[in-house]
Amino acid sequence: MNVLEHIKEEHTKYKKQITAIEEASGKKKQELFVDLYASIHGHHEAEEKVLFPKVKEKVDGEDKEVVLEMEEEHSLGSYQFSVVHKTFLENETWDAKLSVLKEVLEHHMDEEEKEFIPIAKKVLPKEMQEELLEEFEKVLEEEKATLLKKL
Ligand SMILES: [Fe+2]
Ligand SMILES: [Fe+2]
Repeated sequence: MNVLEHIKEEHTKYKKQITAIEEASGKKKQELFVDLYASIHGHHEAEEKVLFPKVKEKVDGEDKEVVLEMEEEHSLGSYQFSVVHKTFLENETWDAKLSVLKEVLEHHMDEEEKEFIPIAKKVLPKEMQEELLEEFEKVLEEEKATLLKKL
């Protein structure tokens, strides 16, 4: 397992978790949402701190633009996560807000898999793709735990 395969697996897991949130209700819905919020925050931070810098230093032009776009999409996701989190579940707009979050996240994960990962595969040596996994997971867990304490 290397860091790029790991990212794809996590995306698949997150997509299932989004569906589970949509289908849940009450306290369970809230718990699932908070867990997804913290997990994806950790995932984005790990990508930005561990993986993107390594790719950025090896690319320019359109490929660099793709990495920069990934980071901007993370910001959009964070914004919408905070919007949903601040809204009471009883509010009639909660589902609509989650739906927008779902669109932002799914668009991002699909684009990351179709555009970013092929670039990373091309420029990062195979050994590095494997070595980065440990640090990726470490940063993810730390950042997830930090956010969980605040939510
Ligand atoms: Fe990402
Ligand atoms: Fe990702």
